[in-house]
Order: sequence, then C-alpha cells, then structure tokens
Amino acid sequence: MPIVHVTRRTHFNAAHRLHNPDKSDEWNRATFGKCNSPNWHGHNYRLEVTVRGEPDPDTGYVIDLGELARIVEERIVTPCDHSNLNLDVDFLEGVLPSSENLVVAFWNRLQGHLPAGELHCVKLYETDRNAAEYFGDQVHETVR
Ligand code: NI
Repeated sequence: MPIVHVTRRTHFNAAHRLHNPDKSDEWNRATFGKCNSPNWHGHNYRLEVTVRGEPDPDTGYVIDLGELARIVEERIVTPCDHSNLNLDVDFLEGVLPSSENLVVAFWNRLQGHLPAGELHCVKLYETDRNAAEYFGDQVHETVR
C-alpha cells in the first residue's frame, strides 16, 4: 500500500524571550542579542503538522484533517496563542522557547494523541525565513 504524507497548517501569535537562567546576563545578551530583550517580543508563528500513513480504503484519508486540526488546536494553539511562552504555558515550563525546543515540545503534545496515521514532522516557522522541524529523532547516548 502507498504511504502518503498529509499536512495541516495553522497559526498562532505569541511572545517570548530567549534567556538561559543558568548563564550570566552578559552571556545571554551576547548569545541571543535582541531575542534576549528583557521585555519580551512577539512572533506570528506558523505551525505545520505532518502525518504519514496508508490511506484508509473506505475514506481515502490518512487521517481526517478536520480531526487533526481539532487536536492541534486543542493541544497546542489554544494554550500558546496570545500567550507568553516563557510564563503562560504549562507544558513549556522550564523550556527555553527557541523554535528548536518548541517543535520537540509540540511533538510530545501530539504523539499518542492522533486517531490515525503516524506523526511524521512538526515544523514551526518563527518568521518567513526561519523554521525548525522535528521528526521525532533522538540521539541516544551509548552506554559503556
Ligand atoms: Ni524571538
């Protein structure tokens, strides 16, 4: 059977600040520049969630995209939209909200919550030019 990838795109607006509390203020300013600005800044984020699988013979769907939209809305967009990602979102507590860390956190919000297909990619555009994507890959340390 063919494997097909389907994607749902959505948007949310949120504020954040890149700041590592384990490092000095000087290190944070030098590393993150304007993104370390103490009074936050906002992004119009674009989020794309891709699911893979065999189309169901009865529906022709890998997953009902309306259903996927509902799950992404409920588990990611509703808690994040018009929020401060550093302060307001329970599941991001302790997470430095770079796009890289956000896609991993969003993946974990969706994994195990899809009624059909397999989660394939979570892609987050912070701007039109900058995006991060996660395919669920983990680097496992070798046990010696
Ligand atoms: Ni930013």
